[in-house]
Amino acid sequence: MAAKNILVTGGVGYIGSHTVLQLLQQGFRVVVIDNLINSSEVAIQRVVELAGDNGNNLSFHQIDLRDREALRKVFSFTKFDAVIHFAGLKAVGESVQKPLLYYNNNLIGTITLLEVMADHGCKNLVFSSSATVYGWPKQVPCTEEFSLSAANPYGRTKLVIEDICRDIQKTDSEWKIILLRYFNPVGAHPSGFIGEDPRGIPNNLMPFIQQVAVGRRPFLTVFGTDYNTKDGTGVRDYIHIEDLADGHIAALQKLIEDPSIGCEVYNLGTGKGTSVLEMVTAFEKASGKKIPLIMDGRRSGDAEIVYASMKKAERELNWRAKFGIDEMCRDQWNWASKNPWGYGSPDSQS
Ligand code: NAD
Ligand code: UD1
Repeated sequence: MAAKNILVTGGVGYIGSHTVLQLLQQGFRVVVIDNLINSSEVAIQRVVELAGDNGNNLSFHQIDLRDREALRKVFSFTKFDAVIHFAGLKAVGESVQKPLLYYNNNLIGTITLLEVMADHGCKNLVFSSSATVYGWPKQVPCTEEFSLSAANPYGRTKLVIEDICRDIQKTDSEWKIILLRYFNPVGAHPSGFIGEDPRGIPNNLMPFIQQVAVGRRPFLTVFGTDYNTKDGTGVRDYIHIEDLADGHIAALQKLIEDPSIGCEVYNLGTGKGTSVLEMVTAFEKASGKKIPLIMDGRRSGDAEIVYASMKKAERELNWRAKFGIDEMCRDQWNWASKNPWGYGSPDSQS
């Protein structure tokens, strides 16, 4: 069988780069488009190196998704079997400050992509949604049937795009769409060559811990110590980035093999909840570094406990996460200690 052609939007970013590497290793031909607004081209060069001979099956175009003509050109050169759509802005706080930027980038980018896909007869899509759509869940584990809500413009873009996908599939049954709701991706490729490299001050827990461990920040602020959890700190479902990337391959197989998939949604997590303090302890063990803590009040918009029900993905995608928090912290530290300044240098950081 001829190798499948996959278009990956946002493929230079954190989740995209790890997924692109796995796609190449599994024999897919991959075209990446990314405008590099939140990523470094070095990541894609390292993916090519890690992929060895299969690296020849990758091409990269620096394109903004909203540039319809540039996108059309990419589709006119290659007939894609499917698109994995990661490209988007993702910082919750920034989305509150600059809602139009988020609506413009995430919604117009996605609508342009969907229109160009339809024009070129490519109607197979995997989309990056988020557990953020569960808001503060009334109960856990979160199942895919839970009611959805958005606490900020970022979350609202995910909700709207999910709805757009359901709507287009309802009126045109040729569309096959899988919406993946990620829980909390952490860790890095075990080589330590690629990993997460956020611009500016990290919003998320693990990149922040990592920057404390390498000496870039003096302490971690723990947001909230009075939650109704085992130690009072927030609980989340952390998933190793390698497992998350593997989940995309499982989704892609399902999309390609199941003619009646329609528009389906799956959680990608581990089904296990871990508190902030448990994560800090696991990281200290993996790194041998002490993480100084400052205990503070709750962060606005944060939920108490969020973790996934993994029953549907296990049953229908035949997929489950393999790694636990010790492996997540080991690989995060391996990446951090080899690349304390991410893909850049001390001068390129704020
Ligand atoms: P990331 O910022 O590392 O990667 C996103 C990539 O998209 C970046 O390389 C960026 O340059 C690119 N991009 C953004 N807007 C673009 C545009 N208009 N045109 C072309 N490229 C564009 O983020 P990530 O962590 O890899 O997340 C990937 C996707 O998964 C995002 O949609 C994000 O919302 C979603 N997600 C992430 C998390 C997480 O914790 N990382 C959780 C849930 C969902
Ligand atoms: C956050 C976003 C969510 C987004 C997800 C992935 C908010 C309110 N939610 O989720 O919409 O989908 O990131 O990008 O921003 N913590 C600290 N100190 C820190 C950072 C985090 O104590 O410096 C705590 C948080 O309070 C939380 C846990 O660590 O209890 C995980 O936080 P984080 O990594 O930001 O992920 P989420 O809150 O799940």
